[in-house]
This record gives sequence, structure tokens and C-alpha cells, in this order.
Amino acid sequence: MNNLNGKIITVSSVKGGVGKTTITTNLAGLYYLMKKKVLIIDLDLYAGGVATLLNVNNKKDIYMLVDALSNNKQVELADYVSKYNNGIDILACPRDPRDVSKIESKYINKIFELAKHDYDVVLVDTSHSLDEVCLVAMDASYNTLFVITNDLVDIKNMKSLVSIFKEMEKTNYKIVLNNSRDTGRDYITLFDIRNMIKGNIDYTISKNFYIKNIDKYVLNGEILTLNKNVNRFYSGDIKNMNKLALSLIEEVKKEGEIDG
Ligand SMILES: Nc1ncnc2c1ncn2[C@@H]1O[C@H](COP(=O)(O)OP(=O)(O)O)[C@@H](O)[C@H]1O
Ligand SMILES: [Mg+2]
Repeated sequence: MNNLNGKIITVSSVKGGVGKTTITTNLAGLYYLMKKKVLIIDLDLYAGGVATLLNVNNKKDIYMLVDALSNNKQVELADYVSKYNNGIDILACPRDPRDVSKIESKYINKIFELAKHDYDVVLVDTSHSLDEVCLVAMDASYNTLFVITNDLVDIKNMKSLVSIFKEMEKTNYKIVLNNSRDTGRDYITLFDIRNMIKGNIDYTISKNFYIKNIDKYVLNGEILTLNKNVNRFYSGDIKNMNKLALSLIEEVKKEGEIDG
């Protein structure tokens, strides 16, 4: 496959544990069902869990790829990814945390270029610290998805980010409110959240999508959106997530050139 047009989607947040990795794998499942070739890059370099969550026993990791690139070797991305199924591959986070500090952000762009050739959609899972690596990833992404929860600190920090994006005229991001993570907490209404962040909440994952026995799926390395029962019981939320998945890769018409 020689695509050139693969779309990089970064999944980020201003707080940890909000459901990023779960949402990333769910999106991967949905793109897979759309017959897209998907790569998940685990840029939660210190504490990434994509390979573990998906039960993939990876021999290779992103550090090994960076190491090869830094030695100017002829590099095939395929030699560094691990297979989840016939349409989803993973580029895992470093197996050895001591390697993380050796990953310079300039290699992220190179990896993305390679990934865009081989895949239709590249999902980048991140940590919640907006470090250099994450910022470079976001900058090179077609779209970034921010995950927030119904939490005052989370909302306040998202507000700061939205205001910075306004200043930068950055528009290629979406915000999803994840009510499925912490179901007891919904005292701030959607209306108030929108007012507080002075921006739009593009999608909501409802509290109905709280999956009590999620660990059962995790232990099997299952992607929720690829599970028949999950699709049956949570069809409303899955439908909504599908809309979100489509909107993240949707082609945006370029505005006409302004004269003068
Ligand atoms: N819809 C859900 N229902 C139940 N538990 C969930 C759901 N989404 C996420 N979780 C659980 O919440 C925890 C944090 O989710 P995770 O996706 O790892 O967040 P992050 O990547 O932002 O740290 C995990 O233990 C995960 O299994
Ligand atoms: Mg995570």
C-alpha cells in the first residue's frame, strides 16, 4: 500500500486517566470496520499501555525505530510495528523506560511520514503532559481529539488550552466529554461546561457507556467496538463514536484565497 494521504489523529487530554487509551482503541476498531488500515502509535512513552491492553506481545518498540532512524539506516516501518489483527498494527512505547529520554521529538515527524505512507489512519495515544513529543505530534496531526471529564480542574485546564488555540488560530481539534469514566460525577451541565471553556464540546460519551466488567475485555485483549455484545448493548454510544471517528478524518474544504 502506498497511500501518502494517511491521516494522523492525536488523542490527548489535560488530565490523566480520562479514558484516552480506551477511546484510542475504540476508534481503531471503528476505523477497522470502515476497512481502513490503522496504526496505533503509543506516545505515552513512560506509561503507555496500548500493547498490554490489546494483549500484543511486542518484540519491537518505538525506541528501536528511533535508534535505527538516528543511525541513518534504511528503515522499514513494518519491521518495528506489531500486529493486532489484519487491519490494525501497533507501534509500542519503549519496553525499557530508560530509553524514553533518548527519543528526540524530531524523530516523531519522520515516523509520521513513514506511517502516512503505509496506513489510512494513524492514531496517536499520548500522555496528558503536553511535553515536546506530544506538542510535535499535535502539530503534525490532521486532527487532535481532547478527552475531558466532568471535573472542575479538567475543565479549567481545557479552557486555558482553548484560549491558546484561539490565539494561535488552531482549529483542527475536537473535544469529547467522557461521562463513562466517572459516572457519579455529572454535576456540571454540558451548557455550563461549554460556557466555562468558551468553546464547543463536539461529542459526549454518555454514562451509559460505563462498562462495569471492562477488565474482562481487557484481559482478552479485546477492542470494545469490535465486540458484538458491546455493539448490541451500547448501540447509541457506538453510533455516536462512529460519527466522532468520521468527523476526525473528514476532509475540510480549504477556504478561498483572500485577495491582496
Ligand atoms: N467506558 C468505560 N467503562 C468503564 N471503565 C472505563 C471506561 N473507559 C475507561 N475505563 C477505565 O478507566 C481507566 C482509565 O482509562 P484509560 O483509557 O487508560 O485512560 P487514560 O489513557 O486517559 O489514562 C482504565 O482502567 C479503563 O479501563
Ligand atoms: Mg492512556
